[in-house]
Amino acid sequence: MIYFDNAATTQIDKRVVDKMTEVLLNNYGNPSSKYYGLALDSIKLLKESRETIAKILGVNSDEIIFNSGASEGNSQVIKGIALYNKNCHIISSKVEHHSSMESLRQVEELGTEVTYLDVNKTGQINPEDLKNVIKENTKLVSLIAVNNEIGTMNDIEEVSKICSEKKVLLHLDVTQLVSKEKLNFSKANVDYLTFSAHKFYGAKGVGALYMKRNSYGLVPDFYPLISGSQEDDLRGGTYCLHNIVGMAEALRVITEDYNTYKEHMKKLDSHFLSRINDLNIILNGFNKNNRILGIFNLRLPGVNNEIFIKENSNNFAISTGSACSLNSPSHVLEAIGLNKFEIRNSIRVSLGKYNTIDEIDKFFEVVKRYI
Ligand SMILES: Cc1ncc(COP(=O)(O)O)c(C=O)c1O
Repeated sequence: MIYFDNAATTQIDKRVVDKMTEVLLNNYGNPSSKYYGLALDSIKLLKESRETIAKILGVNSDEIIFNSGASEGNSQVIKGIALYNKNCHIISSKVEHHSSMESLRQVEELGTEVTYLDVNKTGQINPEDLKNVIKENTKLVSLIAVNNEIGTMNDIEEVSKICSEKKVLLHLDVTQLVSKEKLNFSKANVDYLTFSAHKFYGAKGVGALYMKRNSYGLVPDFYPLISGSQEDDLRGGTYCLHNIVGMAEALRVITEDYNTYKEHMKKLDSHFLSRINDLNIILNGFNKNNRILGIFNLRLPGVNNEIFIKENSNNFAISTGSACSLNSPSHVLEAIGLNKFEIRNSIRVSLGKYNTIDEIDKFFEVVKRYI
């Protein structure tokens, strides 16, 4: 089986499994307990994990809140802000992850006004549009940094400049960006970041929310989604320590390996693109100047995506990128201008660090037969 669905999730790194297993077996003390050794050891591990993640991202460790992943993070930011700031205005876009889209839809029902920015043919918002729709009661701009279906990136720098000038909170869903680029948010004007460990070879079910503290050490007010005393009352629930330690290890490992990882991804990416060019295949939403490596949304005219995926499911793990049928087509591909039939011909292939050139060639042998 060739695994080409790395944007959906990645295969966990063995080094992460080892670390997690060690914690599962030995560190079962609750980090919210006190005094006895098992608790103190767990508190130490929790602290070290927070510090590792914060250091790599260039933020302070008291700005990291552990949670179950980016779906929770996105929901927390959007719902938490909307509930706290009644009748506020939120700006987002038409190509957000489902967890954001659905949260936005729900807060609209509760009276929050939401503006969904249009995107261009490669899935990016126009920062000028953002500038034009910010109003007096705009509280939050919530945007996906890298799109999970087509891999293109928003102009984060410009967006954060605008938000800081207009004094509007900025949330970036960086789930598909963390580990793909070397990131440092120390000087960035970003208030919230959300991400999940399983996108960078960690375990599923764990992620973090970065919340910027102001000069008084305070975080922007919002209602917690999950109440409880952990994380300074901002996210309740007993710490899932093995997952948290695993996430820190996953980020440490990918950062340590970054140069080799990037080199490998570059090779895979350019080989994939050369095969695409040889066969004249259309890439949906492709923007060579503003994308991360390894995510491709291919359109194969005359090929039904579901049938293609099913017929090849013994050999390849690929996806349509999103729940996608004639009745519920991908909102991302729709937003970049594809019609229902074009969407039905589209598949997402996403590469990761364990893939090889040979696997790509095998894939294109199959594609050739279909087209
Ligand atoms: C851009 C983006 N945001 C959020 C999520 C949600 O992540 P999780 O399922 O880990 O909560 C994903 C996962 O596919 C994603 O790609």
